Amino acid sequence: VAELFTSTALTGRRIMLTAGPTWEAIDPVRGITNHSSGMMGYALAQAAAEAGAQVTLISGPTSLTKPERVTSVDVVSACDMHNAVMERIAEQDIFIGVAAVADYRPVDSADQKIKKNADEMTITMVKNPDILADVANLEHAPFCVGFAAETHDVVDYARGKLERKKLDLIAANHVGGSETGFGVPDNAISLISRDRVLDLPKQSKHALARRLIIEIADSYQKKNE
Ligand code: CTP
Ligand code: CA
Repeated sequence: VAELFTSTALTGRRIMLTAGPTWEAIDPVRGITNHSSGMMGYALAQAAAEAGAQVTLISGPTSLTKPERVTSVDVVSACDMHNAVMERIAEQDIFIGVAAVADYRPVDSADQKIKKNADEMTITMVKNPDILADVANLEHAPFCVGFAAETHDVVDYARGKLERKKLDLIAANHVGGSETGFGVPDNAISLISRDRVLDLPKQSKHALARRLIIEIADSYQKKNE
């Protein structure tokens, strides 16, 4: 990216983001996870820092380098991520949930590697806490932004999540195709609020992140005027 992103849109604001997948252990060598490279969350964390924010990035396991000028906390499971967020949320102005949080975790995680004996095995799973919904439900909730990766009826499902989780904004992207979504550098997003849908065309995740940060800052500003 040649042009420099200079913005004062978020000067003095504190932003927390979650990014990457979570990993729910079955035993010490196996687990259940979600498909997520962490690229979009890391790009947003970087763009927020470039726009003057104090950024805290709560990250699940990824192979990415941490952006500069960002405070980061590494976590593994959804419960770890929930704890890390709740411990630090009181100070935040804006929360952006970009992580692909595993919806369920195995009820038990074995201490020892499970040996291959039985022909069938069943893993009983229990629902994980909804980090974003819990943040949005706090008495002094920050401005809350969600992400929704959907394979079909993208805007309808995303709008449902916006309302159900009491979010200020939700960024919806269409996944399942080969050209946008997981692990690829380009992405297209619809940014949805209660009263509008803004379609941001396919572009690099870095360009998209900068645009999203400007839009988020703008909505945050309007809400707090
Ligand atoms: N999210 C979260 N904690 C969870 C699940 C989701 O914080 N346990 C956040 C994600 O980071 C994202 C938003 O909620 O910002 C939407 O996630 P998504 O998986 O699309 O929604 P769910 O409510 O889990 O619904 P479903 O998976 O059934 O579509
Ligand atoms: Ca989910």
